[in-house]
Amino acid sequence: MKAAGLEFDFTHSGITSAKIARASRRFAPIVKYVNGTIAKNDYSNDAASLNLPSETKFLRESRSLAREFSGADALVMVGIGGSNLGTSAVLQAVKGSYYNLENPDKQVFFADTTDSRSIAAIARLVSSKKKVVINAVSKSGSTTETIANFRVLKNHLPKAKIIVTTDAGSKFEAAAKANGYPTLEIPSKVGGRYSVFSNVGLFPLAWVGLDCHALLAGAKEMRDSCLRNEENPASAMAVLLHANAMAGRRIHDHFLFASDLEGVGKWYRQLLGESIGKEWDYYGKRRVRTGITPTVSIGSTDLHSVGQLYFGGPRDKFFRVVSVAGEKTSPKVLPERAFDKLAPGISGKSLDKIMNAIVEGTKGAMRKQGLPYASVQLPDLKEHTIGALLQEEMLETMLLGELFAVNPFDQPAVESYKQETRRLLSR
Ligand code: PA5
Repeated sequence: MKAAGLEFDFTHSGITSAKIARASRRFAPIVKYVNGTIAKNDYSNDAASLNLPSETKFLRESRSLAREFSGADALVMVGIGGSNLGTSAVLQAVKGSYYNLENPDKQVFFADTTDSRSIAAIARLVSSKKKVVINAVSKSGSTTETIANFRVLKNHLPKAKIIVTTDAGSKFEAAAKANGYPTLEIPSKVGGRYSVFSNVGLFPLAWVGLDCHALLAGAKEMRDSCLRNEENPASAMAVLLHANAMAGRRIHDHFLFASDLEGVGKWYRQLLGESIGKEWDYYGKRRVRTGITPTVSIGSTDLHSVGQLYFGGPRDKFFRVVSVAGEKTSPKVLPERAFDKLAPGISGKSLDKIMNAIVEGTKGAMRKQGLPYASVQLPDLKEHTIGALLQEEMLETMLLGELFAVNPFDQPAVESYKQETRRLLSR
């Protein structure tokens, strides 16, 4: 199945295509509702994030602010969870894990947890820069870690320009305005883990120089393709995740055969973890204590750490094997007589070709062991593709909420740790 340039294969998912198609019919009322939301560009309900791929307002705002601050040589992103995982995932996927080393004049740092050494290191690293921008992102405007790090960094970097991204009407917005800082809005019904295509992700990504238009176009193409076709990857993945969980496979592993996709795996971990991991059903009436544990593996690195467990251990996992089509520029292993016999078959082949053999070898081993998996092949790691991938995973998670009969948009159990921390700190 192909959508927005991504190739999905569910042949070895443990569920037949007829069953996937039958189960997907259940989504028809939600799809109808969501299409209505998009047609009206309605931001008043939980499906609001699905408007973002076709929204021009935030793209304009973010680009204009990014242009204003384009002379800066460092951007410090202060935020946690849904307020930074998406941005860092897209940046890493598109620009690579060595982005900062390759771009010393336009570096991006992420300050999330209140870890003294990391925050002090960020402050040290940017203190020698000519112009620094701090973008504090907090939907609620009251997350302890974000506000603490923001205040520490602001005081360590008195000349830094500050931009605040938050819900319109939050106390953080009022404080920012009172201090004369520019603010960017997050629509109130767009939850943190669904917010990457809002100003949350668009400002920093535009500042770096990413093609945000292509990012949104990819998301839009995927969204529209999934909402127009009864058989689509988002519905299929939701059905597969649910059916595998019901069959006792309650661990879902993203096996990413591209190191630069690790951030995408971590972003998805929050998305699936917070959206489906619930104590109560949708109506808050029935205690369900349900969820799927998302894990992230990097291929082939983690075949050398958890491969033994996956192939030989308990049958409690459903895998999503994500790979990327090879590139012409992939470096080649040149034939050299002295080394040719060490690892047979690699001489004259490119690293992408070798990686492809490892991907297929992994899938073959999974089939032999009877481990169910879905495969996703990306054409490249460009903005359009990453936008499409993230959108498919968000849509799939929303549909999965329906199958688990839970609310995929709230996170009441996270709130409880936040409140308890605040209580302890206010003593
Ligand atoms: O998905 C969510 O809503 C949460 O994980 C939040 O993103 C996270 O807790 C950060 O919250 P805030 O953006 O309000 O600072």
